[in-house]
Amino acid sequence: MPVKKRIIVVAGARPNFMKIAPLFKELKKVPHFELTLVHTGQHYDEKLSKVFFDELKIPKPDINLEVGSGNHAQQTAAILEKFDAVLEKCEQSKKSTDLVVVVGDVNSTVACGLACTKRGIKIAHVEAGLRSFDWSMPEEVNRVLTDHMSVLLFCTEDSGVENLLNEGIPLKRIHFVGNVMIDTLLANKKIAQTKSTIIKELFGIQKGKTTTPKFAIATLHRASNVDEREQLNELIKTLQKVSEKIPVIFPLHPRTAKKISELKIDTDGIKIIEPLGYLDFLQLMSNATLVLTDSGGIQEETTALGIPCLTLRNNTERPITITNGTNKLVGTDQKAIIKGVDEVLNHSKNKQKSRPKFWDGKAAERIVRIILKNI
Ligand code: UD1
Repeated sequence: MPVKKRIIVVAGARPNFMKIAPLFKELKKVPHFELTLVHTGQHYDEKLSKVFFDELKIPKPDINLEVGSGNHAQQTAAILEKFDAVLEKCEQSKKSTDLVVVVGDVNSTVACGLACTKRGIKIAHVEAGLRSFDWSMPEEVNRVLTDHMSVLLFCTEDSGVENLLNEGIPLKRIHFVGNVMIDTLLANKKIAQTKSTIIKELFGIQKGKTTTPKFAIATLHRASNVDEREQLNELIKTLQKVSEKIPVIFPLHPRTAKKISELKIDTDGIKIIEPLGYLDFLQLMSNATLVLTDSGGIQEETTALGIPCLTLRNNTERPITITNGTNKLVGTDQKAIIKGVDEVLNHSKNKQKSRPKFWDGKAAERIVRIILKNI
């Protein structure tokens, strides 16, 4: 009987939850792994957190650090301190931790990574090596620091491997395994089709019509796009222009909602809705004519679904979604965005679907096989 290995899996914010779902499920299959699930509480609203646990059947976290919101330093420091206390308690009870698995690029990822590093605990980083090369982006800081603290680095695309090697990370630490977010998407696509009623809720039952009406989805939450009045105003005006061509459904992130209300920005013409759960959003995306977004994960999900995506940023850390997928970087300039929308609507330049290598639903299996060999 192999010796028990204690593994902590960490999640904190919405884009983490769909990544840990397949990982936790695969890790659980190994009898000698003793798992602890820690939720940092970075995201705490039911619509940003609980609904994902319920829909994706992620077990209730063993520990919730309940850190909540704050500026970057406050939030990172609170997670660091509280997660360190968890690690200390494990040590004191002679149940030292063999590996901590962190995912993505949020403040919870880097803060828990740092707590482990200071205690000499091994870290595995899932979604390693992605780089926007934009150091003003909090996520870029989180990505680079977490990668350099990790001993097992799991990459979703070739560019990740290349970036890590360029930064001097030894090849033996780097593993190209595919994309756990796409594991979740593939596992849930049919379930969403059956269970989600979002299309009916949004468009009603259309008499005599069997096809879904055409629509676009927009999502915006990145600080650089929503925190300043001028930029947010310009983007909302652009979405209003887009909505003259095609209905725009805009599920509002709380950060963006707060700003729109504080700055009293007019959103007439855009169909604003609450943040959606995983299954509703997947169903909506699968049926959309196009998606306009500043999210990282949505660039990948639209590529896997073959739905055209316009990314409202000047860079992406996920270049494979452009070279192999359906993504186009259009920046934040109104003219460029409208041109991108027109291209999609006229079908003149729509790209063929092509799913990147290892985005096949088996990334979590590959990761667990590698973890088994390395701890
Ligand atoms: C965080 C991640 C970002 C990720 C995004 C997905 C970092 C640096 N950023 O950004 O990479 O793409 O999550 O959503 O980690 N709020 C609520 N309810 C919540 C959580 C937040 O209302 O449950 C509001 C609060 O006003 C808070 C603001 O949203 O101050 C921002 O939350 P925060 O966790 O700091 O960052 P996100 O913008 O969500």
